[in-house]
Amino acid sequence: MEGSGEGSRDVVLPSRPVPGSYGVPFISAVRDRLDFFYLQGEDKYFESRAERYGSTVVRLNVPPGPFIARDPRVVALLDAKSFPVLFDVTKVEKRNVFTGTFMPSTSLTGGYRVLSYLDPSEPNHAKVKQLLFSLLASRKDAVVPAFRSNFGKLFDTVEEQIVSNGKSDFTGLNDTASFEFIGEAYFGVRPSESSALGTGGPAKAAKWLLWQICPIATLGLPMIVEEPLLHTVPLPPFLVSSDYKALFKYFSAAASKALDTAESLGLPREEACHNLLFATVFNSYGGFKRLLPGILSRLARADKKLHEKLAREIRKAVADAGGKVTLAALEKMELTKSVVWETLRVDPPVKFQYGRAKADLQIESHDASYSIKKGEMLFGYQPCATRDTRVFGPTAGQFVGDRFVGEQGRKLLKYVFWSNGPETESPSVDTKQCAGKNLVVLVGRLLLVELFLRYDTFTADVGAKVVITGVTKAATSDPSKA
Ligand code: HEM
Repeated sequence: MEGSGEGSRDVVLPSRPVPGSYGVPFISAVRDRLDFFYLQGEDKYFESRAERYGSTVVRLNVPPGPFIARDPRVVALLDAKSFPVLFDVTKVEKRNVFTGTFMPSTSLTGGYRVLSYLDPSEPNHAKVKQLLFSLLASRKDAVVPAFRSNFGKLFDTVEEQIVSNGKSDFTGLNDTASFEFIGEAYFGVRPSESSALGTGGPAKAAKWLLWQICPIATLGLPMIVEEPLLHTVPLPPFLVSSDYKALFKYFSAAASKALDTAESLGLPREEACHNLLFATVFNSYGGFKRLLPGILSRLARADKKLHEKLAREIRKAVADAGGKVTLAALEKMELTKSVVWETLRVDPPVKFQYGRAKADLQIESHDASYSIKKGEMLFGYQPCATRDTRVFGPTAGQFVGDRFVGEQGRKLLKYVFWSNGPETESPSVDTKQCAGKNLVVLVGRLLLVELFLRYDTFTADVGAKVVITGVTKAATSDPSKA
């Protein structure tokens, strides 16, 4: 299978009980949480257990454990072959597992269980997902101009800040630009133009996100602060309710057309509005907050020859399209697309996926077959699956910008799982694959286009934030401004 992505099909794999240990109730779950966040770190946490038990399917505890999650025990899937069982909704139930072994209070989402927590067998799943598909389709032509105006402004600011301070915090600027871009692209109204939000939208959104994901996140603060504050009991929802109300006000006004569509699909307006807020602020904003700095950080550390090749490809495609950034021009940028996929492969922005076995079933890793009992919680740690050397070969752990270029490269796309499904498949109302899949890959490409139409190359310091330290303006003029 190595490097080719093709496996030998007829080999009968030995059956094996799932190895691993949950340890002593309560105590081991807390101890494992400390390993996960502070003592080992995520990657090591999973890799060391797979190594210890000689298996990529292994029993272990996942955070947060006590007191937020009732049961931290899962069967972890840590290779490219076993992981995809999580996409098969005939085999796994996806009800209330979006954030894992705990579910944030529905008071954070207007009292509703929003789409991400619904199993496709629930009637509202298809209705809400269809609403999002309709919204994205109706706003298709708004995406490129909204992205270009908001990120054009972002790079103007980057240049000013480099002149005045010698550096510019891309991660911080991206929060504002992404938030504005999404609002403008989806609803035609920049959130900063809403009197309820003003320029406070990104901060309110980040606070509301924190209330939901803090049990499984670290802010890089000392363990002694984070453990009691973030990981032991949920943060009280009332402390974020005024922020949520302000966000909701923006959506009820800006999204009125989409809410009309919702009613025609049989969804009450209010429930639809909480869903639109969640899809926009949690799914979309939460995703772009991670993905776009992630792309820059990989590029900053890549060979400068990759910058040259990207600039050449992007400028040629735009020049050939009469100087315009069109969807057809973007399709011609094979290397650009590959760089976005490679970032999504090597650093999947959403790393954890869960599903509960609907019935007794067999799961196969590359080496063995395992029996799973109905009701057991399956958990995929995506980086282990998408950096599997048995599929991606010896460079599996490295960023290789042109990995998906050409026919051979494209064969590997079925092992890119960032969207909770293979990259070769499209989301539907019957599955749990990300509703924004195509938009995400488009936006990733647009960031590269904006960057390399303006600059030949750039430098950045990469740590918890991506701080741009220098840009070399394009020697040739930007064809999109001709
Ligand atoms: C679901 C990733 C952006 C809408 C998911 C899931 C993943 C994911 C992994 C499946 C979660 C699970 O059930 O286990 C991402 C990443 C993004 C991103 C990495 C950006 C970098 C977006 C955008 C939208 C979106 C822009 C806009 C509509 C959704 C929705 C679901 C979902 C609605 C739930 C689908 C369902 O219940 O069937 N996403 N997403 N996501 N995503 Fe995204």
